[in-house]
Amino acid sequence: MAVREVLRMGAPSLLEVSTAVAEFDSAELHELIADMFDTMASYHGAGLAAPQIGINKRLLIFGVEKNPRYPDVEEVPTTVLINPEIEFLSDEGELGWEGCLSVPGMRGAVDRCTQIRYSGYDQLGQKIIREAEGFHARVVQHEVDHLDGILYPMRIDDMTLFGFEKELFPESEED
Ligand code: NI
Repeated sequence: MAVREVLRMGAPSLLEVSTAVAEFDSAELHELIADMFDTMASYHGAGLAAPQIGINKRLLIFGVEKNPRYPDVEEVPTTVLINPEIEFLSDEGELGWEGCLSVPGMRGAVDRCTQIRYSGYDQLGQKIIREAEGFHARVVQHEVDHLDGILYPMRIDDMTLFGFEKELFPESEED
């Protein structure tokens, strides 16, 4: 169990397309996932993808209970998702603010599909299939993007809606 260093935008490996996880339920995988949860908790993140700690594998975690970074958002089930796939169930997009542990201190408005079905595997190799909407769907899309080397600023259409959190939301609490 350890908090790992989170790579920040500009680190070349964040732009790589990650490779599939081939082996489930291994000691190495369990240790990596435990470190990812420690790291996500330490930084108050809503999600974390393995490439963000320098492991270019198709593995991510997410989950929101009460999170100081996102005081107004709904809860998202704590999930380990390996080799994920997303099916877009709606043509509708919705603009919403995103942040990323690899882009610290900043927020940007990104258009994301409002309704998705996602699938993948947990750390034991058991299949996960879920439908999600709202913030849950947004988090999954954001994290899966990391596996394809995409950071949310690359998806911002209106760059006037990108900036430092403390400037955009001066009245909000520090995190
Ligand atoms: Ni991120």
